[in-house]
Amino acid sequence: MGRKKNQHAKGEELEDTSLLAGAADHETGMPRKRFYRQRAHANPLSIHHLEYPLSPDKMDWSTHFPTFFQPPPAEGQGSVNLKGKKVEFADVGCGFGGLSIALAPLFPETPMLGLEIRVQVTQYVSDKIRALRLNPGSVDPDNAEDVAAAAKAEKEAEKEAGHEPAAKRQKTSAQGKSAQKQAAELPEGEVAKVRGVKPELMPPNGYAYGNVSVLRANAMKFLPNFFEKGQLSKLFFLFPDPHFKARKHKARIISPTLLAEYAYVLRPGGLLYTITDVPDLHIWMTGHIGKFPLFERLTQEEIDNLGRESGEGVEGYEGSELQNERERAVMEAVRRKTEEGRKVERNQGGKEWSVWRRLPDPQ
Ligand SMILES: C[S@@+](CC[C@H](N)C(=O)[O-])C[C@H]1O[C@@H](n2cnc3c(N)ncnc32)[C@H](O)[C@@H]1O
Repeated sequence: MGRKKNQHAKGEELEDTSLLAGAADHETGMPRKRFYRQRAHANPLSIHHLEYPLSPDKMDWSTHFPTFFQPPPAEGQGSVNLKGKKVEFADVGCGFGGLSIALAPLFPETPMLGLEIRVQVTQYVSDKIRALRLNPGSVDPDNAEDVAAAAKAEKEAEKEAGHEPAAKRQKTSAQGKSAQKQAAELPEGEVAKVRGVKPELMPPNGYAYGNVSVLRANAMKFLPNFFEKGQLSKLFFLFPDPHFKARKHKARIISPTLLAEYAYVLRPGGLLYTITDVPDLHIWMTGHIGKFPLFERLTQEEIDNLGRESGEGVEGYEGSELQNERERAVMEAVRRKTEEGRKVERNQGGKEWSVWRRLPDPQ
């Protein structure tokens, strides 16, 4: 399989922090973020000992997506693809995973992956996804809007059913319950409200986040080892580290050399998204992508109409009004569902985004 040992840059083994006492909610298994603290920046140029397959066909996806893949039949082989689906969305530098977890229920048959270089942060997202899988219908605990909506929807449902709202009751089983548990127990129609999407965009009953996972990886180095040519239909770069100083610009995740790799893994018609609150970085990213011959920038009007006609290259989705709604929800998640996006919003900072279509290879 040609794998390297999974080690932290400073020699620590990747540790399952969820095993630490108190690191997870005892009822839902949801991890508690304060147990996974790590310094804000990792230097992508100094982290060398990461796990990666020799080529995409040797990758074992079964541990990430057990409902889509079975373990490799023999040493040195890749996992067995059960549904003919491949990872289609990649969120590069996913941080705490807010984007992928928001998108997963919108595209329940599309495997998607967050790539993150920081070990503790990756572990946190992995533990969070595990807990979401164990509590179908639950919501991302880091998404304050969804958590508040879950609590509100539960209250309303109780009122309609003729009970007093949980908050007023003396001692009930609902009291002290986490938002995950509350959301997981909501009647079906209420779940759509919680997610803030049209009911038609709700995932099928029993949906349990089987199509989302996270991988510890240095996306500047090994992307073509994980994904084959044209495999991805969406590639996200949300609030990437700005690396302000000129001598650090080489660590920026968008650069002319790396754009060739991004164009390689993205299929023609696929979309590349950027967003940042750092104006200089926006100019840097759009400048470099704009000069790259295989990307074409979308106007805001084109962004607003995404999905209407083409389905945006996502497998299994034809262009339609509903697909347009879904693509609008993607843009909403890009702007507002990540940790950084929310932080910028809280500080009333500005955000600048761009969306690019991968053009067909020249003849
Ligand atoms: C500012 S955070 C943004 C996180 C997330 N996208 C968000 O919007 O909340 C940038 C993230 O990219 C990760 N990162 C930086 N370089 C990376 C690389 N080469 N490969 C994978 N992740 C990287 C960092 O560890 C950090 O979590």
